Amino acid sequence: MKPKTVLIAGLDEGGRGVALIDGEKAIVPFSIPGETWRVAPQAALLEPSPDRVAPPCPYFGRCGGCQLQHISEGRQLAEKQRWLAATLARVVFPEKIRPPIPSPKHWHYRRRIQLHVGPKGEVGFYAHRSREVVPIDECRIADPALNAKILEVKRRAQTALQGPKKPASLTFELTLQEDGSVEIRQGGEERSFLQVNPEANRRLIEVLQAALTALRPRRVLELFAGSGNLSFPLAVPGVDWLAVESNPRAVEEGRRRSEQEGGVRWRLGQAAKTAERLYQSGERFDLVLLDPPRGGAEDCLPVFRKRRPPAILYVSCHPPALKQDLQVLVKAGYAVDWVQAIDFFPQTMNLEAVVQLRDSGSDSKP
Ligand SMILES: C[S@@+](CC[C@H](N)C(=O)[O-])C[C@H]1O[C@@H](n2cnc3c(N)ncnc32)[C@H](O)[C@@H]1O
Repeated sequence: MKPKTVLIAGLDEGGRGVALIDGEKAIVPFSIPGETWRVAPQAALLEPSPDRVAPPCPYFGRCGGCQLQHISEGRQLAEKQRWLAATLARVVFPEKIRPPIPSPKHWHYRRRIQLHVGPKGEVGFYAHRSREVVPIDECRIADPALNAKILEVKRRAQTALQGPKKPASLTFELTLQEDGSVEIRQGGEERSFLQVNPEANRRLIEVLQAALTALRPRRVLELFAGSGNLSFPLAVPGVDWLAVESNPRAVEEGRRRSEQEGGVRWRLGQAAKTAERLYQSGERFDLVLLDPPRGGAEDCLPVFRKRRPPAILYVSCHPPALKQDLQVLVKAGYAVDWVQAIDFFPQTMNLEAVVQLRDSGSDSKP
């Protein structure tokens, strides 16, 4: 096979380098934009990037958790921001995209991890796009308190596998609690959503607080509210705050907290249907805050088009879904004020982004 040399042009959604070969996209894993690689007959790095670093984790490359440990932290964030801007290019003017906010911690930032157990009792994370378990003794992006419990998880896994009923699949979820203790849960019981990077979460709350201070809404509808991670710090006295969430356990936690702290009204239900019902019952809102799962909030868009909340704050964990939703909102006459990326997940390609939109009053839809 003829040797082929390529220049890496960018990273794809999975953090893998992309090059063009004869007009076709080619994926070069663990490469960095700007690097020169030989891709045939075998991949080989010819000219490394000055931003290439030695990945500190011995499992990097096999474990599916991290994709970017071979790239310096500054460059990781620059590439993620570039990906965000490229994804939103047809919907948002580049000057509306603010410089990204880095994660305060680049390592040991996660307060929740899920460990899987393989057929021989090996405990670790899934390999990339696979159910094969890569056994680990330590995870460098997990809080040290979680790492300290991995041995105990291995013991529990052995016990479970030696029991009379072998479970078809076995997972342990480790969560660092507010009081510093670690909760270990076995199995896939449905839990309330948790933002796993507490320091980056504080930055997100600061960004939203600044937006609310400027917009001064009196009645806020929050959709996809979880158990109130954003609601409670943002619902200041004088603001009527209504939170909607479909997970009963999360709403129960939120209601319990509201009984103690006040400040937030709760509705259990699907975001789109519940929002429409609230409007039908005469509720009105100056602002909608939404923080949907990865797939975005397509179902809610007809409600916004019809009911036209004057301002929308959209928190997204998946730029491609965000782009789809913004396209609809912009077409319906909303204008994007700004986009703010916050890095919740260093060493991985995931990126959180906040967008402020306002109803410009001109509905350009046909
Ligand atoms: C990305 S999380 C955000 C949670 C919360 N804002 C936080 O910061 O913890 C998305 C939340 O939306 C909830 N959810 C998913 N689909 C929903 C739907 N159709 N209607 C209402 N809530 C939904 C999930 O249970 C989850 O709590």
